[in-house]
Amino acid sequence: MIDTHSHLFDDAFKEDLEACITRCINENVNKIVLVGFSHETNQKAFEIATKYNLFYPTAGLHPSEATKDYQKDLEDLEVFVQSHKVYAIGECGLDYHYGKENIVEQQLLFEGQINLAIKYNLPLIIHMRDATLDTFKILKKYQGKIRGVMHCYSGSYEMAKEFIKLGFMLSFGGPITFKNAKENKYIVENIDLKYILTETDCPYLAPMPYRGKRNESSYVKNVLIEIARLKQMSFEEVEKITEANAIKLFNLEV
Ligand code: NI
Repeated sequence: MIDTHSHLFDDAFKEDLEACITRCINENVNKIVLVGFSHETNQKAFEIATKYNLFYPTAGLHPSEATKDYQKDLEDLEVFVQSHKVYAIGECGLDYHYGKENIVEQQLLFEGQINLAIKYNLPLIIHMRDATLDTFKILKKYQGKIRGVMHCYSGSYEMAKEFIKLGFMLSFGGPITFKNAKENKYIVENIDLKYILTETDCPYLAPMPYRGKRNESSYVKNVLIEIARLKQMSFEEVEKITEANAIKLFNLEV
């Protein structure tokens, strides 16, 4: 199993990271993409990844990091990417959930990272919240040059098909296991498994039966169980295909 979106470097794991990693290994979660979202967490993700070989770090700047200094932040991010082996740019994207005051900076920070992904031939990990149309419009400008994943996808089925046309996969985490996730479940049922990835986004968004508690990468198993149920396929088959998808997208060493 692969958790393609983990923040195991978070302070929530300060006390028991080793135990969390042991649980991953015991559950057969053998690859974890450690997703950075700020200068500080990019560094943390990279440092942890050098200690354990199941981790694959990424580097990005989350839209909540967007300020008037975006230009300098992009330059610093590029320096980091040049000097550290990372497997993706992101998470990056647009988030209008907490207001639109920094919408211009968010979009510039996002486009700057798309250009980095193109320049260094890396996939993008996209965070999109309450900003589907703008995210789509920006990505569309780069169609044919980019690839990546819509992380914790929560948009519509129609838009899901559009993002796939742009070269993106859809990643599902804990929310797919929630009873009320009707659109998400419909998407998984109706989209070819070759476009689907599995993730946790831990420490957030724990799947059932851990909903509301701290999430961790080993719980990606619960996401796979639900996808297998929705697809009416065996767990092993879903595991095999989603693993292959992640290995291919992020170019993971096996
Ligand atoms: Ni995340």
